[in-house]
Amino acid sequence: MKVIVTKNNEDASKKAFELIKEEMNNGAKVLGLATGSTPIPMYQDMVNSDIDFSNMTSVNLDEYVGLAPDDPQSYHHFMQVNLFDKKPFAKTYVPDGLATDAEAETSRYNKVIADNPIDLQILGLGRNGHIGFNEPGSPFDSETRKVPLTESTIEANARFFDNENDVPKFAYSMGIGSILKSKKIILMAFGSAKADAIKAMIEGPATPDCPASALQNKDNVTIILDTEAASKLADSAKIEKTA
Ligand code: GLP
Repeated sequence: MKVIVTKNNEDASKKAFELIKEEMNNGAKVLGLATGSTPIPMYQDMVNSDIDFSNMTSVNLDEYVGLAPDDPQSYHHFMQVNLFDKKPFAKTYVPDGLATDAEAETSRYNKVIADNPIDLQILGLGRNGHIGFNEPGSPFDSETRKVPLTESTIEANARFFDNENDVPKFAYSMGIGSILKSKKIILMAFGSAKADAIKAMIEGPATPDCPASALQNKDNVTIILDTEAASKLADSAKIEKTA
């Protein structure tokens, strides 16, 4: 696991986009993509670039159960607005939030992942250490499934909704095991609200209590932080400062 600390999220996003371009130059065809506020500046850099993604495939991490693809709060809509409308991909996959047969939908999505092995997975980080919507307690070998969201995640994500009661209580999420199958992984985290989760992820034990700690000891993982998210890390030897 390589940890890169940059001075702010703009520098971090540029670094992440450089790594994406490097992987595309090396033949990457499938990007695993994430939602949340963290990857937005990176998506802006992608949109403002002259890079063509029209022969690329994307597989997104998760979707709220109960939200239609065109619901403004859905992750499907988020991806359209922030990336796909401006930079078309050959094929994009997001779990279907309206699917009522959870077993059928999660098997369908596991097949999507198996048929489109992810070359480079982009991850954000929940304040409680979740990746995708793999909340604390999620097994490291989990596949796509319907998951209940924790109170802290519902509260953290309430800022995107009119009312906390409108935040869906369940999501379809790619599992940790599926994420770990990606050839390369970039996790980005910005701001002091992520500092405890970053410390637990990097310095704590590898345990489902902190889902992101599943990424420990993997040499295909790059963590890109701003100084605030890195502020509680004790072991500066692990950190390559780029800014
Ligand atoms: C949601 C998403 C995660 C994301 C997390 C952090 O829970 N399912 O994929 O990493 O939010 O969001 P933000 O980047 O807005 O802090």
